Amino acid sequence: MIQKQDIDALNQKFASESPETLLRWFLEQCEGKIALSSSLGPEDQVLTDMIVKINKNAQIFTLDTGRLFPETYSLIEKTNMRYGIKIRMYFPDFHKVEDMVSTHGINLFYESIEKRKLCCALRKLEPLSRAFKGLDAWICGLRREQSVTRQAMQLVEWDEIHNIIKINPLIHWSEQQVWDYISKNAVPYNRLHKNGFPSIGCQPCTRAVKEGEDARSGRWWWESPEHRECGLHKK
Ligand code: ADX
Ligand code: SF4
Repeated sequence: MIQKQDIDALNQKFASESPETLLRWFLEQCEGKIALSSSLGPEDQVLTDMIVKINKNAQIFTLDTGRLFPETYSLIEKTNMRYGIKIRMYFPDFHKVEDMVSTHGINLFYESIEKRKLCCALRKLEPLSRAFKGLDAWICGLRREQSVTRQAMQLVEWDEIHNIIKINPLIHWSEQQVWDYISKNAVPYNRLHKNGFPSIGCQPCTRAVKEGEDARSGRWWWESPEHRECGLHKK
């Protein structure tokens, strides 16, 4: 089993390797104890394509917050059909969501950062902690270019929040590389990306951005940039 103290050596080992080489190694080393967490975003679709080509039985899961875009649900189905896989869906605890909505209202997230974080905690973080049961490592589609909050992220990390190895195979990729891979490999993607939505999360917390605007500026747009993380990757 890979330990926290192995992380530096692993970063060196894979510094100049392709994402596929890194994925192949981790999927073998951690077989049955590794999963891709997919938001169905373009990076995650690239990773799904790479992973399925290495091992069709590798685990892929998504956190269905109950507030996703209809286009995202369609893409889940399309991706399952295209690759002959079943993306595992994790749902929030309905008792907790019922309590939260009864107390604070259905669109509480617009009212304060605290309420927004509460919603993300219930709809994303609690299901994520269940998804992690039995896992040693998770694969994510993070890229440094995406945000000020992601500049220090590494290819391989020890995730202090969740106590698990975190692998970011596309950390150094540009947006152009992602889209080049998608078109070369005919990877299915969310149609909303062609309509001004470069980064897609929950429907009420995502809006379209204008040409030239920061890709993540449409996520939680009413908050300042340093707060625009849901707790999955930063507290
Ligand atoms: S977020 O934290 O702001 O929502 P973003 O949309 O940029 O994250 O996605 C970054 C990575 O977080 C994705 O590549 C994916 O690995 C993971 N992720 C984000 N949202 C989900 C989700 N709903 N289900 C599973 N994984 C997710
Ligand atoms: Fe709730 Fe918005 Fe967070 Fe989705 S992104 S879990 S709707 S606050």
